[in-house]
Amino acid sequence: MKKNYSKYFKKPSLSSARKRIEKVNKIEFTIAKKYEKIGNGKNFLVKTYGCQGNEADSEKMAGVLTKLGFNNCSAPEEADIILVNTCAVRDNAEVRIFGELGRLSSLKRVNPNLILGICGCMPQEENVVEKILQKCHYVDLVFGTHNIHKLPEYIYAAYLQKERVVEVFSNVGDIVENVPKIRKNLKKAWINIMYGCDEFCTYCIVPYTRGKERSRKSENIILEIEELVKEGYKEVTLLGQNVNAYGNDLDINYKFADLLEELSKTEMKRIRFTTSHPKDLDLRTIEAMARGNNIMEHFHLPVQSGSDDILKKMNRKYTKKEYIHLVKLLKQHMPNISITTDIIVGFPNESREDFEDTLTLYREVEFDSAFTFVYSKREGTPAAKLVDTVSEEEKKNRLHELIEVTKEVSNSKNNQYIGKVVEVLVDSVSKNDEDFLSGYSRENKLVNFKGDVNSIGKIVSVKITGAKTFYLKGEEI
Ligand code: 5AD
Ligand code: SF4
Repeated sequence: MKKNYSKYFKKPSLSSARKRIEKVNKIEFTIAKKYEKIGNGKNFLVKTYGCQGNEADSEKMAGVLTKLGFNNCSAPEEADIILVNTCAVRDNAEVRIFGELGRLSSLKRVNPNLILGICGCMPQEENVVEKILQKCHYVDLVFGTHNIHKLPEYIYAAYLQKERVVEVFSNVGDIVENVPKIRKNLKKAWINIMYGCDEFCTYCIVPYTRGKERSRKSENIILEIEELVKEGYKEVTLLGQNVNAYGNDLDINYKFADLLEELSKTEMKRIRFTTSHPKDLDLRTIEAMARGNNIMEHFHLPVQSGSDDILKKMNRKYTKKEYIHLVKLLKQHMPNISITTDIIVGFPNESREDFEDTLTLYREVEFDSAFTFVYSKREGTPAAKLVDTVSEEEKKNRLHELIEVTKEVSNSKNNQYIGKVVEVLVDSVSKNDEDFLSGYSRENKLVNFKGDVNSIGKIVSVKITGAKTFYLKGEEI
């Protein structure tokens, strides 16, 4: 068993994570000479759970490890370093990740030098780090969401000096530029435009695990996108927990609508963004979207609940009426827009009437699709203190009922596409049928279609001939 190394021993604190500090440090990523070749001849594997933010972080980890000389591998048995990048939004992901860590630890019998690391959102939670320290002695490296740029020194300590590294910062406001990235996709890229979240929805752990809202400078975002255009990228997705709050922390008057306006003038063919908060979505943003030809007609606008009472208890700061008004504005400005959402059922003491308000709202908005979740209690959040009277069984039943409604509405929305021509960025041969290609339309609809394999990586026109609940079928024209 390895010893704890005092230089790298910092545990998280949720109470400290709740505080918002003013200072934002801007750091330029560099690798000290001492670490430059420490990975030569060795392999790494990064396993990713959770949201697109984590996907983007994993691409940074892969970039840093590659710069250190490590090679990417896909089989855990071949790896010298395995990093598990984790999600803390719901507890089911946590259960899975501890199982995964246990299984991976058995590889140490064959390769005693294997470094097993856990990073991302879970280590930002006090109870998770305590559990790792007490029960998972096989974990060598623990770091959080704020210190990917310190990977070179952590790897050096853990791999070469055989020390156990635990370093989780709870309250930092850093923005680190120029972290190298190895992107998984050669045509579609994630771009962080901001980090953190200041919304504090009462059920959500993210403001604690990802820190305060901090926006990247627009110049850096635009430069990154222009580079991607040169490399042949066709699509970028701008990432933030609440992109509509972009710029609020900058000391100039520059907001998300301004960023969209500028990005619409770049040569990037397709621009998407996620995720949005209804309370901060303004008319200027909708207008900039409608004007920009390269801004896709898709809006992911999490509503969470259709009951005003529950929205209030969730601290969402908008009403059902205000939400519906935003949807109207979006549809007025972009008649073919698709609107998707996130919904939580079974928030503490959600009544049958509250739940039915959600079903009614769903049908009224006619969402194209939704990510639906059963409320999951997150220790340290305000909602975790509420005494809940609704049974788990009832919550599961509500989820199933909601899913049935989402399927019915998706089916009817998708049917409206039959006979229309949509523009598709072609990803690959379809996973389920090799006679078909697959890609996404401007409206973010999955389209499986008959077409020319040479179209992979290109944007093509596809005539829609059929519709299913989760995808459209068609032929390239
Ligand atoms: N329980 C269930 N779902 C949650 N989400 C966030 N926190 C929780 C929680 N504690 C959902 C929200 C959010 C999405 C990313 O995850 O719907 O929009
Ligand atoms: Fe969580 Fe709300 Fe922030 Fe989204 S906006 S990350 S749901 S606190």
